Amino acid sequence: MFTKEELTRGLDSRIIGNKFFLFDSLDSTNACAKTLADAGIEEGAVVLTDFQTVGRGRNGRSWNSEAGQNLLFSVVLRPKFPKDQATFLTFFSAISIVRALEAELKERIECKWPNDLLLNGRKFCGILLENSFQQDKLAYSVVGIGLNVNQKEFGEDLRERATSLRFERKKDFDRKRLFQKILSEMDRLYESAQAGDFRSVMEDWNKHCTMFGKPVKVVKSHETLSGTAVGLSPEGGLVVETSKGKSIVYAGDVSILT
Ligand code: BTN
Repeated sequence: MFTKEELTRGLDSRIIGNKFFLFDSLDSTNACAKTLADAGIEEGAVVLTDFQTVGRGRNGRSWNSEAGQNLLFSVVLRPKFPKDQATFLTFFSAISIVRALEAELKERIECKWPNDLLLNGRKFCGILLENSFQQDKLAYSVVGIGLNVNQKEFGEDLRERATSLRFERKKDFDRKRLFQKILSEMDRLYESAQAGDFRSVMEDWNKHCTMFGKPVKVVKSHETLSGTAVGLSPEGGLVVETSKGKSIVYAGDVSILT
């Protein structure tokens, strides 16, 4: 694991990364960041680990990652958002990563609703937002990011769908440098996010989304929906044109059918 000094040196940031909590191994960086946030830690605190024993994915799934090869971290944010704007932080995190990595990879990253980043159609990064609300306001949000950097192998069940930067580029990447770039990018974008200006992030996310105009299947908790993904609703839901008209999906697993 890196040291705090190594991470702070060369980090161009005001808020994000103002405190680091670094672990060789942890149950989950999101669980740890939530405990810190509940105890009142300032926004910008970052929890990073080399390995998770109970890494959390979306919809109660687990997130598994080779030890010491990838980036597994969570950031505590406390923007003064009304409850319904919390979803924006997923798009904000995705675009911070896209901007940091595209400059490095010189390759187009695809955004898949709601929170996946893909290279050549395969997922290399997932984002898990865990929010805490107080009445109608966001008290804090923990943004958890799992990014496959130098992972060499994937289990049989994942091989078709998952990838890493190393897999795509056939070379190892400097995890510390990528991490610092992502945090710096987040910090830059967070200034406008705090001011409620979501335009540039949403424009960029829409440009990077490769689902629009494609047939999709959405598996929700109680139903499955088929149609064409046509765009995002103002609150960040996925608009799907079905045989019965337009439907807005706020949670679910989406497969692109082409
Ligand atoms: C997804 O299902 O796509 C979201 C995966 C998010 C995984 C990251 S790894 C770091 C952070 N800590 C966790 O327990 N989960 C997130």
